[in-house]
Amino acid sequence: MLEVLVVYYSRTGNTEEMAKAIGDGLGNVGVDVRVKKVEETTLDDLKTADGVVLGAPTYFGSMPSVMKEFVDRSIKVRGKLEGKVGAAFTSSKIISGGNETTLISMIEAMLCHGMVIIGDPIKAGGHYGVVSIGKPDDETLEACREFGRRVGELVKKLG
Ligand SMILES: Cc1cc2nc3c(=O)[nH]c(=O)nc-3n(C[C@H](O)[C@H](O)[C@H](O)COP(=O)(O)O)c2cc1C
Repeated sequence: MLEVLVVYYSRTGNTEEMAKAIGDGLGNVGVDVRVKKVEETTLDDLKTADGVVLGAPTYFGSMPSVMKEFVDRSIKVRGKLEGKVGAAFTSSKIISGGNETTLISMIEAMLCHGMVIIGDPIKAGGHYGVVSIGKPDDETLEACREFGRRVGELVKKLG
């Protein structure tokens, strides 16, 4: 069965709630879903997944060092992630606190791997992926589930 891996970092739980909601959305479209903390994710996990969704809080307008360290380690699987679906989500404290640049920082890494990035045309989500300001409210959680569903549908389409 096709598999999607949701990899996240979260210190105070906001991004974790988003990760679980994205996992719920993915679970509704008939793909295997794994939602894992970045600290527990291996490079083999990346290799076996057909789609990877990266999520992290916004730290100084970019991804936190824990996620960056994981991304940097992924140089070891360069060439092995080509053609897989990629997507990103983030939580920030304020609306103009650099959440879009954080999404782009994770998306850039996935582009470097040759992954196929899916954006988010849904009003409640965000253009480059889903964003939550602080703790996700019901509307944001719904946007996360919908984002997960769309990631899953694209994974199935690309086979
Ligand atoms: C080191 C650090 C840097 C942060 N930098 C930003 C920032 O640049 N912009 C912003 O809006 N929020 C910033 N925040 C706030 C977090 O992004 C925000 O609280 C987020 O919801 C935390 O997610 P989490 O609960 O998944 O850990 C920062 C927090 C920390 C600890």
